[in-house]
Amino acid sequence: MKILVTGGAGYIGSHVVKQLGEAGGFDITVLDNLSTGFEDSVLYGKLVKADLSDFAFVERFLLDERFEAIIHFAASIVVPESVENPLKYYMNNTVNTTNLIRCAVASGVKSFVFSSTAAVYGEAASGVVTEESLLAPINPYGHSKLMSEQVLRDTVAAHNGFNVVVLRYFNVAGASMDARIGQRFPNATHLIKVACESACGKRQKMYIFGDDYPTNDGTCVRDYIHIEDLASAHLAALDYLKQGGRSDVFNCGYGRGYSVKEVVETVKKVSGVDFEAELAPRRAGDSSLLISNNQKILKTLEWKPKFDDLNLICKSAYEWEKSL
Ligand SMILES: NC(=O)c1ccc[n+]([C@@H]2O[C@H](COP(=O)([O-])OP(=O)(O)OC[C@H]3O[C@@H](n4cnc5c(N)ncnc54)[C@H](O)[C@@H]3O)[C@@H](O)[C@H]2O)c1
Repeated sequence: MKILVTGGAGYIGSHVVKQLGEAGGFDITVLDNLSTGFEDSVLYGKLVKADLSDFAFVERFLLDERFEAIIHFAASIVVPESVENPLKYYMNNTVNTTNLIRCAVASGVKSFVFSSTAAVYGEAASGVVTEESLLAPINPYGHSKLMSEQVLRDTVAAHNGFNVVVLRYFNVAGASMDARIGQRFPNATHLIKVACESACGKRQKMYIFGDDYPTNDGTCVRDYIHIEDLASAHLAALDYLKQGGRSDVFNCGYGRGYSVKEVVETVKKVSGVDFEAELAPRRAGDSSLLISNNQKILKTLEWKPKFDDLNLICKSAYEWEKSL
């Protein structure tokens, strides 16, 4: 299968490229502007350094290459930055994605897998969310992704033969089990990454934002998914579309959650470092509990998660952080 992976030099994209390469049978091209990605994270295929905002290039490139499938990761992903600079997010995530979809349809792409996020559920969603739960993002990042989902939905309805799987990721963490690749971009805001940086002495301390939420220990609960399992969901989605599966949306999580305190304690345990985690006031926009109902993906795709274990997730993230 001739496949284009946009953003394949980034954290999640590079893991998917690795799994595609290991699986065999894929002719892989990565398109990435290396704004937050790394050339040497691309372990398989050909890297084309280009920007999705270059519409003329993207159109020509897709018409020339005639990809059968696209997995689209390229995006800007920092929530607070999206509040300060919303236009960057609407341009890079919504406008560039819309153009990519236009070029994909024009060049005869059959299968399209899109990286979406639990951020489309927003603050109103507190609890276990299904794909049918209320979509109400609370920041420009979430809106920019939901708008792309809408463009995809409308395009699928209008264009026979263009099929799409939207994967809504919950909290992605960890590194490849062989420790070759992992989350590298500095100043990440993800809890497990921040805790591992603290354990490695790269931060003096970290903060726990709020301990008065209506959860067991008062801190927010999230559904953490290991990067290797998230990556394998993309291969399962491609296979599903290839077998004639109809366009659909799937939550990607384990269907259970851990609190901030539990994560911090686990990172302390696996690292053996008692780093400082200071209690701070709640942050605006954090819901108390956000967990995926993952029944749909388990029933529909050939996807079997293998690393549903917080110790293992934190250990792989910590080992990777130490190696940087
Ligand atoms: N990391 C998470 O926890 C998480 C959660 C939910 C959804 N997602 C989604 O997953 C996708 C990948 O996220 P990630 O964590 O790997 O981020 P990342 O920043 O590591 O990867 C994004 C990649 O896209 C590239 N890129 C960005 N804009 C581009 C453009 N205009 N043209 C070409 N390349 C461009 C970057 O250089 C980078 O390699 C994103 O779409 C994000 O919204 C991530």
